[in-house]
Amino acid sequence: MKTLISGGIVITAIDTVAADVLVDDEIIIAIGAPGTHDWADTADNVIDATGKYVVPGGIDPHTHMELPFGGTYASDTFESGTRAAAWGGTTTIVDFAVQVKGESLIAGFDTWMAKAEDNCAVDYGFHMIAGDINPQSLADMDVLIDRGCTSFKLFMAYPGVFYSDDGEILRAMQKAAATNSMIMMHAENGMAIDVLREQALERGETDPVNHSLTRPAATESEATHRAIVLAELAGAHLYVVHMSAKEAVEEIAEARDRGLPVFAETCPQYLFLSVEDHVSQDGFEGAKYVCSTPIRKSEEGHQEALWNGLATNDLQVVSTDHCPFCMDDHPVLGTQKKLGVGDFTAIPNGLPGVEDRFQLIYHGGVAEGRISLNRWIELTSTAAAKLFGMYPKKGTIAVGSDADIVIFDPDVDWTKSVTQHHMDVDYSAYEGKDVKGRVKTVMLRGKVIIDGDEYLGTKSDGQYLPRETVSVHH
Ligand code: URP
Ligand code: ZN
Ligand code: ZN
Repeated sequence: MKTLISGGIVITAIDTVAADVLVDDEIIIAIGAPGTHDWADTADNVIDATGKYVVPGGIDPHTHMELPFGGTYASDTFESGTRAAAWGGTTTIVDFAVQVKGESLIAGFDTWMAKAEDNCAVDYGFHMIAGDINPQSLADMDVLIDRGCTSFKLFMAYPGVFYSDDGEILRAMQKAAATNSMIMMHAENGMAIDVLREQALERGETDPVNHSLTRPAATESEATHRAIVLAELAGAHLYVVHMSAKEAVEEIAEARDRGLPVFAETCPQYLFLSVEDHVSQDGFEGAKYVCSTPIRKSEEGHQEALWNGLATNDLQVVSTDHCPFCMDDHPVLGTQKKLGVGDFTAIPNGLPGVEDRFQLIYHGGVAEGRISLNRWIELTSTAAAKLFGMYPKKGTIAVGSDADIVIFDPDVDWTKSVTQHHMDVDYSAYEGKDVKGRVKTVMLRGKVIIDGDEYLGTKSDGQYLPRETVSVHH
């Protein structure tokens, strides 16, 4: 079955060019100048992309479908979350399988694989949260790498839950260096944060805003620095997740300037939301914006520093850290954010965003003049594909690549709202925000799964995506 996408502007991380794209079954088989070929004669289906951008499907390398956290679970299942991803122009996610204390790495991986299998609307891979570093876990990293799980997340935060101490981190990094796999780091000084949280509660400071206030920028920049030092000692590749503090970005920039294989991401919530406008809202409303690392004060200049880092390649990726929890009771999961009424430390950490990212970064990045069209694609698709062993199968429009293609209308003005999103969560972090540019058509390996307002996919369109080990410096 051949599909021709004609008349659009093809945008990759490198090129912006008027071109037609020919897809055969799941693969892009030709890209050519309009009017120089007769592909329409043999195509089974022609999609008119005149006036639109034809771009690679988004890759979100940081999601947490069904994550157990703080006494509940992230409200999106693999089914609902990946369908929402598709609506937002994302055709690949890399979710985090979880090893809990006392469990083997492989058992955790198998559990997550079973949750996702036949339940994903888009393609999916896994990183592994290593929550219990011991000799067996280190040996099991080899097994997971063979299964295409080539990146491992460690936590310097959340003592008693996912936390690893520096010795454990160093051992895992040494193993990652020996196997050419990637260490992903949640870089916050969890021990110091726990003291600040306890002291805030003792003073009677229980509102959601205290979540942000007890995780000051220094706790992120110190941990980022320490992670870089340990990775350098081990000779490992390091990717720092969900960065929100300008001082932490400076640590990344300094390491990269020294030529270290250090990479980092930020997320839309850190680019668009602030303590002043969101987390400090009256009553319990601020709980909507409780996540770690925290949303920070805009007066401190973090948002500008993050956008600047994205523009200059100090930061390489925009992911979502999609980890939604409802404000009111979830029909199946019950109380979620409100577990923390009267005690901000009990609010489950995380925000929805898997459906928002691709379009928000176009809006705030391209439409508002901060980055180029090509950089938009690099940040939301290509760089993650390269860093996490999916390129060039994913992350670009090229002959031989998977036909994961989004047709994007740059001229649509619309307003974001919970009433129009597809994530299984009862609020939008961007409610009422006017944005420019919208996903029109989404193709997953040659199959149109979104066509305007219509969802044409199924819950098992997505395939598991085994990934290669680290091959590029970026
Ligand atoms: O608040 C967050 N980030 N929740 C998800 C878990 C994590 O640390 O990534
Ligand atoms: Zn994290
Ligand atoms: Zn996360």
